[in-house]
Amino acid sequence: MEATNISVSARVDVAFQRCILPSCGATYGIEDVRVECGRCGHLLDVAYDWDRLAPPASLAEFDAATIPGQPEAQSGVWRFHRLLPFAQRDKLVTIGEGRTLLQRADRVGQYVGLSGGELHLQYEGLNPSGSFKDNGMVAAFTHARTVGAKRAACASTGNTSASLAAFCSVTRLLSAVIFIGSGKISYGKLSQALDYGALTIQIAGDFDDAMQRVREVSQQLGIYLVNSVNPFRLEGQKTIMYRVLDALRWQSPDWIVVPGGNLGNSSAFGKAFAELKELGLIDRMPRLAVINAAGANTLYELYEKRGARWDGGKPDSALVDDYYRELDESHAKASTIASAIEINRPVNLYKCLRALEDMDGVVREVTDQQIMDAKAQVGAGGLGCEPASAASVAGAKLLRSEGIIGPEERVVCILTGHQLKDPDATVAYHTTDQEKFNQVLGRRGVKRASYANRAVAVSNNLEEIIRAIQLYS
Ligand code: F0G
Repeated sequence: MEATNISVSARVDVAFQRCILPSCGATYGIEDVRVECGRCGHLLDVAYDWDRLAPPASLAEFDAATIPGQPEAQSGVWRFHRLLPFAQRDKLVTIGEGRTLLQRADRVGQYVGLSGGELHLQYEGLNPSGSFKDNGMVAAFTHARTVGAKRAACASTGNTSASLAAFCSVTRLLSAVIFIGSGKISYGKLSQALDYGALTIQIAGDFDDAMQRVREVSQQLGIYLVNSVNPFRLEGQKTIMYRVLDALRWQSPDWIVVPGGNLGNSSAFGKAFAELKELGLIDRMPRLAVINAAGANTLYELYEKRGARWDGGKPDSALVDDYYRELDESHAKASTIASAIEINRPVNLYKCLRALEDMDGVVREVTDQQIMDAKAQVGAGGLGCEPASAASVAGAKLLRSEGIIGPEERVVCILTGHQLKDPDATVAYHTTDQEKFNQVLGRRGVKRASYANRAVAVSNNLEEIIRAIQLYS
């Protein structure tokens, strides 16, 4: 997409935008609104001249109290403002994002095959709009505000749109235009966009179609685009890793395991760790595992099967283009119960390949059955999550069974969305109502509810109720 005419500023400052391809290296000012390089069409990074900034000398500096009442104190994103210093402090927006929890999860760890104390779950569903998206949205929203945008748009499988709609309704600084595909969005997420008053355009197509359209529409109408092609989004998502490190007393875990959809998170995590390493703030990079749903497995296919690599900034784009041509020719559409990651053309593919190179990464695919079983384990062992999030736990289990993850390694699985985002999938899994099960899960290839916790049906009779409790507890 070409630059919209919202704002264009000076070329290079202490913070600037830079093409991800080293051989291009084009730079743009921080207030230049664009989602791809004007010279070569690749993605952009937000880059910093750290020598002219004041990065922390040690991560423990973040233990120090921040100014009460300021965004740095209220937000788990702006708390780390010094590591994403593109934003002017007096322009920071917050709705209380990023106040999330890293929880030791021994019961789920046992399921995965890890020793006690090794598995930790990062509950990003505890964000105000119920998913990790708020981490990135606050950064893009702050940027949008800085450049004077009036409207913001996104295509979404439901969480980005819920997040954008929440920021618009709480702050009243921008209005939201949301593109969703037909029939694939969970009701929990759709209800948020509608309730928050966003203009919601439901197009006849899937997420990949919606993504293409929103880019065209944003360019034509000069609307600020907040999908993760927006490099500022990913700056905010870096902070998920800072909070994980904080909870682990600033020690890197062995593994970060994350579901892969549009590949914004994995890309942001790679950038977070690469910068921390460059700044000498960590000794060791964790390894990265990105987990696709088997019905939406572009990254797995390209990385593990066809050998696509970042290759030090010289990726073989013909390999990627050939694969996409095959998808087009076979009219392949993504399909998984994990609707959040039902994506065949991940917009951050190249950034993710870079992250995989920097973090010695692996990619796996998991079936809908594995996802739903892992989801039930997460629910039984803690605060629960939506199906896409459980791909991380299913992926960790798979990697453990392959011996790639060792039993004594410290693993952090990112739970990207709240349990209540997709109650249909959860209830169908646990229900005794076979018709409902078949309707929601059976058609997607889930055959068993291995860990179902069925409701016990009793008549409205005291004795029978007591008998049931004695029998089942
Ligand atoms: N988990 C959840 C709950 C998501 O909503 C998404 C993406 C992902 C994982 C994948 O993350 O794109 O960074 O690889 N949801 C987007 C949306 C596409 O529109 O809400 P990713």
